[in-house]
Amino acid sequence: MTPWDPQQYQRFSSERSRPFFDLLAQVPDDNVRYVADLGCGPGELTHSLLSRWPEATILGVDNSPDMLAAAARLPVHAQLQFVEADLATWRPDQPLDRIVSNAALQWVPDHASLLPHLVSLLAPQGVLAVQMPRNFDEPAHRLLAEVVRQEPWASLLGSWRERFFVETPTWYIDTLDHLGLEVSLWETIYYHILTGPDAVLEWMKGSGLRPVLTRLSQDQHEQFLSVYGARLRAAYPVSSAGTLYPFRRPFFVARREEKAV
Ligand SMILES: C[S@@+](CC[C@H](N)C(=O)[O-])C[C@H]1O[C@@H](n2cnc3c(N)ncnc32)[C@H](O)[C@@H]1O
Repeated sequence: MTPWDPQQYQRFSSERSRPFFDLLAQVPDDNVRYVADLGCGPGELTHSLLSRWPEATILGVDNSPDMLAAAARLPVHAQLQFVEADLATWRPDQPLDRIVSNAALQWVPDHASLLPHLVSLLAPQGVLAVQMPRNFDEPAHRLLAEVVRQEPWASLLGSWRERFFVETPTWYIDTLDHLGLEVSLWETIYYHILTGPDAVLEWMKGSGLRPVLTRLSQDQHEQFLSVYGARLRAAYPVSSAGTLYPFRRPFFVARREEKAV
């Protein structure tokens, strides 16, 4: 399990939260009483679901004590609960009308097993709404792979390699269709314009670099970030607008219902 730094993660909260709201814009509002946000992180987006569905009970599920400590600082609300659990095995005590998951399932292996499990948690007519990144061929990730293969990092990090678990859009459509869901899937490239020095490095420090940083000592961090940061600066030049950081994200909204044959 990766230790998280909620403060670093939230440095780009506007860019990171926009896909959540773009996903939610496509989620229907009928019969929403019991909702889970899987991989809820620091919980602010989970909290925003209270105003979207004021009659519902909202559960935020995450396996990071650091993220949940940040969520615990949010205003208390009788209809909002946070649960520490692995989303791959967690079971609610009643069927869910909506499962929402923003930027989390890419960390969880074996979607061929995960999706049937999540669908089994849905009430009839329940909806599974998911957004994940699919930008792992971008320079930020290619350069990270290059640096971790070099010494001294190769010896320090052992067999660790960046690994995310995102399948192709057609795979999700076929899998959800076979599970009996009506699915709508789309993909967007956000052209984030990041501000501040070493903006892509700062972004990666809040997400993709977490597993690396937690395997290195403080001194080793500085050296690693200096080498990786120099490569990122060359790959993502700063323009007068800021640092352009293209980011591809697939979304799907899938409803459990009997389909006409
Ligand atoms: C990039 S953050 C996204 C947080 C939040 N959904 C958002 O959109 O801001 C990914 C979150 O997924 C959580 N996560 C990753 N694997 C998980 C697992 N197996 N079970 C529960 N949470 C997990 C992490 O702890 C982290 O909080």
